[in-house]
Amino acid sequence: MWLLLLLLLLLLGDATSRCLHDEIQRSTRLLRPTLPQPPSKFRSSFLTLPDSHNPQPLRIQTCYIGDPGADGVWDPKGDEMRRGSRAVTAVREATQRIQGILAVPPVQGPLLLSRDPAQYCHAVWGDPETPNYHRCSLLNPGYNGESCLEVKIPDAHLHGYALWPEQGPPQLVQPDGPGVQNADFLLYVRVAHTPKCHQEPSIIAYAACCQLDSEDRPLAGTIVYCAEHLTSPSLSQSDIVMATLHELLHTLGFSGQLFKKWWDCPSGPSVRENCSTRQQVTRRDEWGQLLLTTPTVSHRLAKHLGVQGVSMGVPLEEEEGSLSSHWEARLFQGSIMTAIFDGAQRTRLDPITLAAFKDSGWYQVNYSAAEELLWGRGAGLEFGLVTTCGTDSLDFFCTGSGLGCHYLHLDRGRCSSDPKLEGCRMYKPLVNGSECWKKENGFPPGAENPYGEIYHTHSRCFLANLTSRPLPEDKTSHPSQNPLLKEEELTGRCYLHQCIERGAYKVKVKGSPWVLCLPGKAIQIPGYYGLLFCPWGRLCQTNEGANAVTSPPVSLSTQDLLFQLSLGLAVPQGYTLGKEQREELTEAVLQALQSRTGTGRCYFHSPSITANLVFTVQMWKSPGCQGPSVDMLYNALTMALQAKPIEVNYGGASFIAEYSKMLATPDPKSSRLHLGLSMGLCLTLLILVCALGTMAYQKRATLQVGPSSPYHSQVHWGTRGPAGGVTEV
Ligand SMILES: *[C@@H]1O[C@H](CO)[C@@H](O)[C@H](O)[C@H]1NC(C)=O
Ligand SMILES: *[C@@H]1O[C@H](CO)[C@@H](O)[C@H](O)[C@H]1NC(C)=O
Ligand SMILES: *[C@@H]1O[C@H](CO)[C@@H](O)[C@H](O)[C@H]1NC(C)=O
Ligand SMILES: *[C@@H]1O[C@H](CO)[C@@H](O)[C@H](O)[C@H]1NC(C)=O
Repeated sequence: MWLLLLLLLLLLGDATSRCLHDEIQRSTRLLRPTLPQPPSKFRSSFLTLPDSHNPQPLRIQTCYIGDPGADGVWDPKGDEMRRGSRAVTAVREATQRIQGILAVPPVQGPLLLSRDPAQYCHAVWGDPETPNYHRCSLLNPGYNGESCLEVKIPDAHLHGYALWPEQGPPQLVQPDGPGVQNADFLLYVRVAHTPKCHQEPSIIAYAACCQLDSEDRPLAGTIVYCAEHLTSPSLSQSDIVMATLHELLHTLGFSGQLFKKWWDCPSGPSVRENCSTRQQVTRRDEWGQLLLTTPTVSHRLAKHLGVQGVSMGVPLEEEEGSLSSHWEARLFQGSIMTAIFDGAQRTRLDPITLAAFKDSGWYQVNYSAAEELLWGRGAGLEFGLVTTCGTDSLDFFCTGSGLGCHYLHLDRGRCSSDPKLEGCRMYKPLVNGSECWKKENGFPPGAENPYGEIYHTHSRCFLANLTSRPLPEDKTSHPSQNPLLKEEELTGRCYLHQCIERGAYKVKVKGSPWVLCLPGKAIQIPGYYGLLFCPWGRLCQTNEGANAVTSPPVSLSTQDLLFQLSLGLAVPQGYTLGKEQREELTEAVLQALQSRTGTGRCYFHSPSITANLVFTVQMWKSPGCQGPSVDMLYNALTMALQAKPIEVNYGGASFIAEYSKMLATPDPKSSRLHLGLSMGLCLTLLILVCALGTMAYQKRATLQVGPSSPYHSQVHWGTRGPAGGVTEV
């Protein structure tokens, strides 16, 4: 009689893995300690160790069972270098991460697992009058010890058992084992080619929890790895670690079978006196959506979506039967606890998942290692509904079947759906070569690369229609005669990026200089026709550094605003400038700007000038730069340029700025401040406002800034303060 939570990880052809759960779970039961073991509450109360109540990092001891048939030997280190070392390494990494996050009141003394009387005992004394009432009177001769999901538990880890006469002391059959020291959870690890692996060749691993303590906290579980996947080149070590984490979290309590055993402990896991079993953990809402309704997860989800004070419950994936052990995919793309595992690079150990462990009542949770989900952040209460995903203003979902970027911008993607999305569509990584961050997906040297793509560790996917193909001077007069004039469609392409600040970054296209990419804007790239769209709220976000492929942010100590200044210079009659002359002109404009603002060169970065004399420079304060803040410079420059346009004398001619334009990133200071706000509501509202503002802006920019429209025709747009996120002068 043991609880079996079977969680299967499937590797599908398109490199996404699915976790099956309910198929075997329905027929399973649970092993809790039976007499003569005292309940742990009792146990710890007569031990007066000072730390016996204080939660300590969860100690997970791993027991590797190498050979399918062999008895498990308690030897945590011995087999690591041989077969299964990859699994053991992954388990070690996964358990270390968990240990930094979950804490429990430590188990006192060695951890000993229970035996199931229904297995070893054939009959018990039935007379309530006798002293050994309900104790084992007849052993089961076929008793073969205890097992945990296909793994035989070593006797050393188990309580003993005894045969009781009708009266008097027991006859010991097997004494208590020594148990496992310094353990709060025992994880058995097996690498094998089991019938289950054979039956479904795509299964990477599956896991089960099989023992609970007297407060229902999981005490032991097993992970079985299907051997051949551990040597498969299609799985990286971090994929295996993530898959292990997913399974481990199921065994530690994130399971439809265990939700209903969660405890409600208002004073935390160390104070047991006012705990009760949770009455209700799931419910169905009026649309039939299954929800997990415990308070911490609900609060965290509300915070994530940017709505406050709504106790709404957290949608669970509808799975076979009524149990569900995964978050709803439409709301939780990228979470470690969705049913489809999408590769380590796209998976986060998110705070909402961790909140579930808080709600279990068994654990204290340290959120500092949590990785925030980008999917749905600040998207509001309506996010992820089947009815709203087709009209998603924040571009998490898509419609049609075109090409674009996966929402994390690590991959190029195609707009598509899957059964868990229930008709909603999102850009899913392409079957082949989607990763911008893999050099090997790039072009071989010498190959034609008209879109200037760069595949590199620091490359990301951008929606763009850049092309280096020369377009004729006067494209409107003979459009039908030149097939090259066909407009390039916007699609996902890979370009280098570099973080400057939280939420601020630069991009580089093949052969181009670094260009500031203002989130939410469409920008032009020197040397290319077309536009590149800078995603808002997706790149260079906090916590992104936790992932191996993200670039280290450029160290920039400024707390200042960051902006880009563009000047459209009027070309004096009859003038054409060569490349070198343009460089000299760039320098002259820079000097004019410096003297106008009275500031040093350290504010001006990546100046460039295009063939049609659009001068662009990015403004921020380099570390060590002396002088006013960029905010002050911004205001001074705004006023100075409004008062009198910049005029530069070069080569005997006078170049006057016909228009000037300043684009500012959202003020990083205000976003930092928001990070500190616990409720996050103001933040989210502001971000939403900004996001909508920039969306609107983007559409305008698309209409007005194009390679075919001469810059001079640009109008002066209205001014909004930098706090609004977007400013043009
Ligand atoms: C338990 O509940 C009682 C009654 O509500 C309260 O007085 C007591 O302080 C609580 N104990 C803890 C540790 O919270
Ligand atoms: C939480 O974990 C971080 C490391 O991830 C650690 O620095 C911090 O001290 C921990 N906080 C608590 C309260 O244990
Ligand atoms: C992926 O692309 C490579 C190179 O273009 C090709 O050799 C391989 O067969 C492709 N794989 C699939 C599954 O299409
Ligand atoms: C790029 O796309 C924008 C917006 O769709 C369009 O206005 C522009 O003409 C396109 N440019 C090229 C070179 O295709």
